[in-house]
Amino acid sequence: MFSIFYTILFLSAFLRVIPALELNILKAACPEDKDFCAQKAFQGECFGGELPAKVLRKECPCSCENAFNARIQNCCLAVGPVDTRFCLPLCLYNITAQELSSTLAFRCASQLPVWIYCLADGQDSTECCQAKEIPARCHQFCSARLLSCEWDEEDRLDECLLYMDQIINCHKDNLSPRAKFDQSWRSTCPNFSYQEN
Ligand SMILES: *[C@@H]1O[C@H](CO)[C@@H](O)[C@H](O)[C@H]1NC(C)=O
Ligand SMILES: *[C@@H]1O[C@H](CO)[C@@H](O)[C@H](O)[C@H]1NC(C)=O
Repeated sequence: MFSIFYTILFLSAFLRVIPALELNILKAACPEDKDFCAQKAFQGECFGGELPAKVLRKECPCSCENAFNARIQNCCLAVGPVDTRFCLPLCLYNITAQELSSTLAFRCASQLPVWIYCLADGQDSTECCQAKEIPARCHQFCSARLLSCEWDEEDRLDECLLYMDQIINCHKDNLSPRAKFDQSWRSTCPNFSYQEN
C-alpha cells in the first residue's frame, strides 16, 4: 500500500509536464494578470509578430514573460552543456544589462553562444535587425550565428547591449507558436570568451 503511494508520489515529481499543472503554475505566478492570460500564454499565443500576439504581450505582461522564459529555459536545458546548469538563471528573455555584467554572467561567459541561439529559437531575425538599423557588427545576436569564438574590445560588441531590447523584440516577433530549435544543436564555441582589456 505504502509503496504504491510512494510510487505515485515519485511519478508525480515528473508530472510537471502535465499541461493542467503547468497552467496552474502559470496562473499562480501572475496574480496581477487578467484571468484569461494564463490560458492564452499557455497555448503559445504570446509568441510571434502578429497583432494579437503583440496585444497579448501588452495585456498579459507577466504571463507572457513567463511563457517566453519557460520556452528559452527549455532550449538552454536541451542544448547547453550539463556542467553549466548553474548558468540557467541567465537564460531569460528579460535579462537586464545589470544581470549581464554580474559575477554569474562572468562565470557563464562561455554560455553566451547558447543564450544567443536559444533567444533566436535557432531562427534568423537579421532582416528585422536591419530594418531597425542595428549596426551590422551586432547582427550575430540576430542570426544566432557567431562570427568568432573570441571577442575582444575591438569588436565593440559591448555596445550591442544598447540594442538588446530591440534585438530581443525582433526574436519575439519571429517566434513560432511551437519551438523550432534543433535539439541536437551544440555550440561550436564551447570555450567562447570575451576579453575586456
Ligand atoms: C523576468 O521574468 C521573470 C518571469 O519569467 C520574473 O520572475 C523576473 O522578475 C523578470 N526579471 C526582470 C528583471 O524583470
Ligand atoms: C575547452 O576548455 C576545456 C577546459 O576548460 C578543455 O578541456 C577543452 O578541451 C576545451 N575545448 C575546446 C574545444 O577547446
